[in-house]
Amino acid sequence: MRKNKKLLFLSSKGGVGKTTVIANLGYMLATGFEKKVGLIDLNFCAPYLPTQLGVENRKMGVEKKQIFPVKILPNLFIVSNEFFLDDKEAPIIMRNYMYKIIASQIINDVNWDDYDYLFFDTPSVFSDEIMESIKLIENIDGVIVVTQPQNHSITGLKRTLRFVEQYHLPLIGIIENMVETKCPDCNKVSPLFSREKFKEFIEKKKLKTIAKIPFDREILKSTDNGISFVQRSSSENDITIFKQIINTIEEFPEKK
Ligand SMILES: Nc1ncnc2c1ncn2[C@@H]1O[C@H](COP(=O)(O)OP(=O)(O)OP(=O)(O)O)[C@@H](O)[C@H]1O
Ligand SMILES: [Mg+2]
Repeated sequence: MRKNKKLLFLSSKGGVGKTTVIANLGYMLATGFEKKVGLIDLNFCAPYLPTQLGVENRKMGVEKKQIFPVKILPNLFIVSNEFFLDDKEAPIIMRNYMYKIIASQIINDVNWDDYDYLFFDTPSVFSDEIMESIKLIENIDGVIVVTQPQNHSITGLKRTLRFVEQYHLPLIGIIENMVETKCPDCNKVSPLFSREKFKEFIEKKKLKTIAKIPFDREILKSTDNGISFVQRSSSENDITIFKQIINTIEEFPEKK
């Protein structure tokens, strides 16, 4: 497989679990598939990917205009605006030109050459963070849209799909997150959302659902503890879903 496969993760709206999915896939690729993975946080104003992985207090190295990502594992690295912040409690206020500078630092000033995969986490809106970054990312190999299967997500999903089309990006498919939940007392599984219109929409658009991830309290707990679910879980069943997503990613045709 060619090195440097670049995947952009978009969403239908905020809070659907995009950062959680990326953190887990990154961890799984690095540990279960022995790939070298770079996680690139394009949420400049709300950078939560480092917190998800428990590395928010670390610093990136800087030497002679080169940036060195924070190492999570020997083959898992991350860059984020979070690491530039001195006062973690101050509001992150970004002016226009700053987006360009940060995008250039974390994309151009890092040597990404020998990475197998680069995963880009994005904000839920097409703000300057995405637009400035996209100009610098050459050849995006695939886009995954993370969404919740609810009627309320459809408008946002339509906008995201239109963006993908307008920028001629190759869509791998969608991940439906928080699909169902299991009662902790009786183990009964029930859907979290009323899914009818959403289901109709994805069928009409012939969208490929790569995976359906249940709402799982253990995933929530992992986030709160700054550790990936994949890393925390000892159950093969729990992590199978993330392995399946990676198989789909690995099989997705590469751009020449
Ligand atoms: N499958 C899941 N089961 C349980 N909790 C989940 C699941 N997926 C995500 N969460 C929780 O939902 C919350 C929001 O997730 P996350 O921050 O990944 O969303 P996001 O789409 O990246 O949000 P934003 O748009 O703000 O970047 C987190 O607390 C996370 O732990
Ligand atoms: Mg996020």
